[in-house]
Amino acid sequence: MGLVEFLGQMGRDMQAFPFDDLSHIARYQARVKVNWKAFTDAFREGYHVAMVHGGSIPDSMNSPANPQGVPVSSRLYGSHYSMSTWANPEHKPTPSEALAWKMGMTFSPGEQLEMGGVNPSGDEIWWFDMNMVFPNFYAAMGPGWVFTYHFWPRSVDETDWIMNIYQMDAKDYGELIAQEHTKVLLRDLLYEDLSTLESTQRGMASGVLTELNISNSMELSVRQQQWVVQQWVNGDGDPGQV
Ligand SMILES: [Fe+2]
Repeated sequence: MGLVEFLGQMGRDMQAFPFDDLSHIARYQARVKVNWKAFTDAFREGYHVAMVHGGSIPDSMNSPANPQGVPVSSRLYGSHYSMSTWANPEHKPTPSEALAWKMGMTFSPGEQLEMGGVNPSGDEIWWFDMNMVFPNFYAAMGPGWVFTYHFWPRSVDETDWIMNIYQMDAKDYGELIAQEHTKVLLRDLLYEDLSTLESTQRGMASGVLTELNISNSMELSVRQQQWVVQQWVNGDGDPGQV
């Protein structure tokens, strides 16, 4: 099966994105003592943002109107998954963020560039899409930027993680400075995301918890991954495109 066929509708939804207009601006990597599936779970829901990222992006995806950061839409594509995040219309930029937006563009919510290949459900309030390509690739795509994760399992409880960040080509030094803001803000967010993973793994390995209820509305993608992995492990293979 070729890549286009494997991606199916998810690939068609992102086909119009202007990938060629983006520059590679940063790469981060880490070896983390966590199972690869538990690692990807950290990027399959939005409710952790209010707590884990409360210091770095306190009101970008949360507000009294949406305290849990519930996504605006979700799409199941067979083995793959995509969800669109909510952006707080009342978001107040930090001083460094405001400066970045003055000179160019940055990752945090701000001016929306018109482009295809994102926001496939046409949500009115929208920040970016989180696209999970089964089994181990993730691409977050927003208006003018993309960041990707590769998850490479080393053992049942250790994963090599690689992040690459891409942003619209900078046309002047101001836009280069704005790109730096994207780089350091995402670096800080990932420090926060990765900080919880090894303790999650230790908790699972303790065996104290034998069952876990997974929410349909808040953790749809976590549920989906459990099901998809079971399909592949049981020999049923790709559940197919939807
Ligand atoms: Fe996070």
